[in-house]
Amino acid sequence: MSLLSICTTESLTNAALSLKNGQLVAFPTETVYGLGADALNSDAIARVYEVKGRPTDHPLIVHIASLDAIEEWAREIPEYAITLARDFWPGPMTLVLNRSKLAPNFITGGQDTIALRVPAHPVALALIKEFNSIGGKGIAAPSANRFGAVSPTTAQAVEEELSTFLHQDDRILDGGQCLIGVESTIIDCTGSVPSVLRLGAITPLMIEESTGLVAIESNPSAIRVSGSLDSHYSPHAKVILDVVAIAGDGLIAPDQIPTPNGVIRLAAPSSIEEYARVLYAALRSADQKGLEVVVVLQPGGDGLAAAIRDRLKRSATK
Ligand code: TXA
Ligand code: MG
Repeated sequence: MSLLSICTTESLTNAALSLKNGQLVAFPTETVYGLGADALNSDAIARVYEVKGRPTDHPLIVHIASLDAIEEWAREIPEYAITLARDFWPGPMTLVLNRSKLAPNFITGGQDTIALRVPAHPVALALIKEFNSIGGKGIAAPSANRFGAVSPTTAQAVEEELSTFLHQDDRILDGGQCLIGVESTIIDCTGSVPSVLRLGAITPLMIEESTGLVAIESNPSAIRVSGSLDSHYSPHAKVILDVVAIAGDGLIAPDQIPTPNGVIRLAAPSSIEEYARVLYAALRSADQKGLEVVVVLQPGGDGLAAAIRDRLKRSATK
């Protein structure tokens, strides 16, 4: 039986109940699909790690309904973090803050910080609110893929990736294709200025314009950000960047680049936003087609293009 369900008021109510009962619910966000669990239920969180195949010292993001919940989960919140939250939540931004007593070790990987995000997808927000209405405090959710693999941007991709690891009473909520397509920007807010741990749709320039502070790019290896590992976001096919594709290769490139003879075109985005939106599905389609090599011509520029190049660099490292 399929674990997929379309989003109705009834399926959202049931999904919130499932979370409260300790089951897992994969849900859409505007960035990528998340594999959700009750952030305060250690057994449910243990299953998230098991289903993902992720080391337990890699912390999870807790998804909350609004800025109002930030003080439940975090303490000593700097003014600039509140400014960022006001400007960009709900949205593709995760804030790392000093954790409150509520935040358990099994979420934070034993670190003193907690990662929080208010997602903008209506289904995600409705699910969190419904979960709150029955006593939930937050939904912990990593991207709904196996550790090291490409994040899913459709419910079908979640099903393909995780259905063999999920239980019969877990769920996958179908909210269509994710609009942004790359994971949220992660900003460490424990220092005197914001520090970007993972690039995303909220760019360093936007952070500066919002807070008046120049964001630094910190050394994420000191804090465990699995998305910052050298090899991550990888399909089975070998990803090769910025070379000429030959017959039999897959190709992901901006639409003005023609497809050489015998090359299998996987995506031809006409803007940076479209590039981000289609990239992960295109990498997945390379595996579905059984391709051995995918050539990717990277987008130039900063902002979201830099986030795309960051992910591509890691997909290409094997
Ligand atoms: O867009 C997103 O952020 C998606 C959607 C589902 O919200 N989630 C996502 O989660 O990408 P995940 O677990 O795949 O990536 C979250 C990253 C991980 O690399 C984790 O190590 C890092 O956030 N992280 C979580 N808590 C942290 C903390 N306290 N300090 C530093 N990094 C943290
Ligand atoms: Mg991930």
